[in-house]
Amino acid sequence: MPKSEHERGEWGSRLGFILAAAGSAIGLGNIWRFPYVAGENGGGAFLVLYLVCVLFIGVPVMVAELTIGRFSRRNPVGAFEVIRPGSPWKIVGYLGVFTGICILSYYTVMAGYTLGYIVKTLIGDRMPFESFTANPILSLSLFAVFSILTVLVVQGGVKNGIERWAKILMPVLLFLLVVLIIRSVTLEGSSRGLSFYLKPDFSKVTGKTILAALGQAFFSLSLGMGAMITYGSYLSKKDNIVTSSGYVALFDTLIAIMAGLLIFPALFSMNMSPSEGPGLVFKVLPVIFNTIPGGHLVGASFFLLLSIAALTSTISLLEVVTAYLVDEKHFLRRRAVWIVALVCFCLGVPSALSQGIVPRLGRLPLVNMSFLGFMDWWFGNIMLAIGAVLISIFFGWVWKTRRAAAEILEGYPGFERFAPALDLLLKFFCPACIIVLLVFLFIGGE
Ligand code: TRP
Repeated sequence: MPKSEHERGEWGSRLGFILAAAGSAIGLGNIWRFPYVAGENGGGAFLVLYLVCVLFIGVPVMVAELTIGRFSRRNPVGAFEVIRPGSPWKIVGYLGVFTGICILSYYTVMAGYTLGYIVKTLIGDRMPFESFTANPILSLSLFAVFSILTVLVVQGGVKNGIERWAKILMPVLLFLLVVLIIRSVTLEGSSRGLSFYLKPDFSKVTGKTILAALGQAFFSLSLGMGAMITYGSYLSKKDNIVTSSGYVALFDTLIAIMAGLLIFPALFSMNMSPSEGPGLVFKVLPVIFNTIPGGHLVGASFFLLLSIAALTSTISLLEVVTAYLVDEKHFLRRRAVWIVALVCFCLGVPSALSQGIVPRLGRLPLVNMSFLGFMDWWFGNIMLAIGAVLISIFFGWVWKTRRAAAEILEGYPGFERFAPALDLLLKFFCPACIIVLLVFLFIGGE
């Protein structure tokens, strides 16, 4: 009998889940954002801090989100309602759904550029990044194409869509990265890049470095807006939530480390500055590719890789909002997906026009950033941190680790021993660290 479209899916296998969740985590955040933030924050020392943040804050918050999701079998809004009926906690879920829509809107714009860069690099076009993004028809078309790609995958539902695609796409991504890294580290003068990236210089660490590392950890692991609550809701009771989180974080971190290995050696061999800023990938890499033999092929495969990674992330963002509409508002999956994509597209238009098309959007008054930059700062940073702090407080103080542990024990009978550690991390350590980050941000500590 065909499954009703309202019925909830489940992951077909444990590996399928891990690949899909890792696909959500791995994206522009790892390959575009990580290297430029690391470059601006001193390289090696940033890498170490980032690893610490992933381990002690990222992994516990991910365990919390997955447990909430698997226990409630709901989207973020429904999940809080199931655990604490009638309480205001479901606002955290609404916040997540809203944040998801907003992140998706500008993230897809960036993803569209990566799509465009596949062709641009392949045909050896040397137009600078600014001129490329200044073409309104091109920017909006790429944005639209990427939105439709995301819709087509998510429309298929959990097993047929997300999981099948992730299974095909993730190994391709890994393979391409390895090939490109080999190319990068064999370039002349690349060793200085390696030592910049792998030899930490702690004398340069400031509060700002730590904050950058923490923020990057949330964005990169897709935490703080319920993406992992939603993915957890498709987990089976047999799955081990703690080791699954570990694997996802490991994969994600591995790809980020590899992205650094790809970019820094090449960057230094070109005598370019590691603090090139957000345009790093788009501005610097094509120049590098143009100067090495077969560069346009290497370059095109790099941007293909980046598009693949971005697609598995936009899938997860769209899935959160879709799951909400399907579970709570009883939408047909197909209809929900198109409606959300259309809303995101409209919301993303100002971001798409902010990169050199409409000057007013290119530099917003007061904040002094482009519209896209502002969206990323507000939703990709602050809203995720607010979400993560609320999720850890909910888990540790409201639902209580003791009760949540019963859910984790299913699929992981040995968890008993680690429950006190998780309790400490989620009750005190994570909220304290994140609140410090937020206060710092609001005081203007950059
Ligand atoms: N983690 C993804 C990346 O690194 C982006 C992403 C996907 C995301 N889903 C998310 C970020 C949910 C925050 C929340 O590119």
